Amino acid sequence: MNVRITGTGSSLPGKILTNAELEQLIDTTDEWITTRTGIKERRIAADGEYTSTFAAEAGRRALEMAGVQPEEIDLIILSTVTPDFPFPSTACIVQDLLGAKNATAFDISAACAGFIYGLSVAEKYLRTGAAKKILVIGSETLSRIVDWKDRNTCVLFGDGAGAVVLEASEGDHSLLSTHTFSNGSYWNLLYQPGSGSRNPASASRTIDERLIYVTMEGNEVFKHAVRSMEEAAVKALDANGLSQSDISLLIPHQANRRIIDATAKRLGVGSDRLFINLHRYGNTSSASIPIALDEANHQEILKHGGKILLVAFGGGFAYGSALVEW
Ligand code: ACO
Repeated sequence: MNVRITGTGSSLPGKILTNAELEQLIDTTDEWITTRTGIKERRIAADGEYTSTFAAEAGRRALEMAGVQPEEIDLIILSTVTPDFPFPSTACIVQDLLGAKNATAFDISAACAGFIYGLSVAEKYLRTGAAKKILVIGSETLSRIVDWKDRNTCVLFGDGAGAVVLEASEGDHSLLSTHTFSNGSYWNLLYQPGSGSRNPASASRTIDERLIYVTMEGNEVFKHAVRSMEEAAVKALDANGLSQSDISLLIPHQANRRIIDATAKRLGVGSDRLFINLHRYGNTSSASIPIALDEANHQEILKHGGKILLVAFGGGFAYGSALVEW
């Protein structure tokens, strides 16, 4: 049985935060951010907007494109590092918002690789017949966990969500493979120290010591990101008996322009086969690939029968790839 992507959707906050505006908030420049990251602006959630808000809207749009009713969905898998609450899962809140009353719903946590992990889990449910129609969503409100006083990190991230509907049926838009990898030796190079069971909420500790915010060894993460994304991409190509020249579009996780360019160069993929929207949204973690996929879909640059390679890397470290024949 084929596993097909029958709908894509995305949802982004209306509020845009430009590099010029960041210059007013912290000691940075548009020139530094642009040359080091490629980011020009990012979207920021307004009061009253949460991870579930964007997730539900992206999901609704993906369902609409697929022509699938919410009640037909068997499973909702939502990837996020910024859930509405520690529990219940944001997926359950989205289930309620969508009226997907026949679905099982759960969250997964694999940072920026979360959407690929979600695809991989969904693929197994569909291939084993355990589900027929699945909604996979990546949604983040990273603006709520970055330290707006830390110029090393706050310039990098943005909010938003992307989603796909996956169905077990014959036809085009087939998910050919997914591969996931983890390397827990480096968990402390990119993480949020406070708010979990090691450092529970406390005014004197997690707040005063700023443990509630994302912390990152940027240079180290950079090196691992390039190597690991190449490894995951090569695994996808090998598993499908393909070479880089067979790829019609590479959609990498949108973290940093230099990471994307270095990965594409190692793979031998030129800019004409590379999808980038990082300049408009920054790093939206697990939402970045489904947002990019949805934009590429609407821009009609996904050609029928073309091979699309999705590849992601993030905290954990967790990384992975997926290959889709459109
Ligand atoms: N504006 C101006 N100066 C800054 C800023 C800023 N926003 N941030 C840092 N600097 C300064 C630093 O303080 C440092 O100054 P110093 O030399 O006086 O100490 C200088 O710029 C250079 O800092 P580096 O950290 O060496 O800069 P680098 O070129 O490595 O770029 C960056 C930093 C952009 C974070 C890069 O390492 C990177 O992209 N790493 C990957 C991390 C990433 O993308 N993480 C996202 C999550 S993981 C993922 O999604 C893959």
